[in-house]
Amino acid sequence: MQDCHKSQKIALCMVGLPARGKTYISRKLHRYLNWLGYNCKVFNIGNYRREICGTECDKSFFDSKNEQATKARNECAQMALNDLINYLNSDGEIAIFDGTNTTKERRNMVQCSLLQQCQNVQTLWIESICDDADVIQNNIRLTKLNNPDYVSMNPEDATKDFLGRIKMYEEVYQKIDLDENLSFIKLINIGEDIQIHKVKGYLLSKIISYLMNLHIYPRPIYLTRHGGSTFNQENRVGGDCDLSQQGIQYSEQLGKFLLDEFPTQEQRNQIHCLTSTMKRATHTADIVCNILKINYLQLKTLDEINVGICDGLTYTQIAIQFPEDFAERKVNKLTYRYPRGESYLDLISRIEPIIYEIERSREPVLVIGHQAILRCLYAYFHRNEISEVPQLEIPIHAIIKLTPAAYYCEEIRIKIDPETGERKQIEEDLQITRINMLTKKKSYILL
Ligand code: SIN
Repeated sequence: MQDCHKSQKIALCMVGLPARGKTYISRKLHRYLNWLGYNCKVFNIGNYRREICGTECDKSFFDSKNEQATKARNECAQMALNDLINYLNSDGEIAIFDGTNTTKERRNMVQCSLLQQCQNVQTLWIESICDDADVIQNNIRLTKLNNPDYVSMNPEDATKDFLGRIKMYEEVYQKIDLDENLSFIKLINIGEDIQIHKVKGYLLSKIISYLMNLHIYPRPIYLTRHGGSTFNQENRVGGDCDLSQQGIQYSEQLGKFLLDEFPTQEQRNQIHCLTSTMKRATHTADIVCNILKINYLQLKTLDEINVGICDGLTYTQIAIQFPEDFAERKVNKLTYRYPRGESYLDLISRIEPIIYEIERSREPVLVIGHQAILRCLYAYFHRNEISEVPQLEIPIHAIIKLTPAAYYCEEIRIKIDPETGERKQIEEDLQITRINMLTKKKSYILL
């Protein structure tokens, strides 16, 4: 974790009718905050309900006039809240309460319990409001129909029942009101309008900026290392050398690959290409963008990890000249900081603005970067544990195409031969991705 005062705890509580993207937002926040190094966990009330009451609950179960079911639903919410409070009272730093929380009475109960039972907790309420029928229909189609509540129902019946469930909630829904004296953000029609009230503090302001950049439009994100450099050939770290001959060839083949991915100039003009300020990366971007006839943006934030006093050395030289550092780095590559240089943890905080930039973009993004930087970016989108970051495989002369969807991230890896231009999908990784996606699909539970 980076900056949050150790004893300061944060509860992020969702509000909104079903199918308004609350679970999506919760998962994104969870990912972002874990990636930044915070102990963060989501408490999804629907999961407790499924666990305790089963998945055979049709719309009548959500009718506020159904006293028995209302009692059961309140008990589930209370259980989720108790677990959340216990988490914050132990090593949890940020907890996300993912539920509808549509009434003032429920919100008041949650707010009072948090204040009474948790020390030093700050609460932010996040209300997602959406009246765009297409977005709601789309959300139901993409997420709710695979929901464990509806696995045994045909899509038409499931949609009908889900719309009925929404109606039940609409009957009692009270939007967050100023008189509740809560700290809140309202996200209206996926960022069309945003209202913020009484939000204070560094981390909460960060969370607000992150939320302001989120959207649900699918677009591919291409990650590639610069073409091979002269230092790569010599196995040296750091420096600001230029491309090798092979690196130039890869850049040309990469340009051709992207021409095939984006056949028209109109499509190519949409590509948001980002690179670093280092020679090997800008040279790659020059070649690629010249072929695509587009511009690119150079960002210092994307420069490779600063290896400090080891700049220009080979790993063998580092082992001989700085044996203690060499050994320390081996033990924990995530936290190890090169003397007068950076660690992977430093990199994560350095590239945080890039995450905003990529999240905000509704157009395809192409990042021509460096190994360590791409490991950090990849881990964010692929939901890797941060401890895995320094070991992630980001091969040279290959492009990784990620397409983040609501509850998983599709991945295709293509190795490009710099000399022949032959393209080969990396099957082994694809399999890993499929397994990951499957696991994610199996484990996700929605409201
Ligand atoms: C809730 O209303 O927060 C829980 C919804 C559910 O049981 O799925």
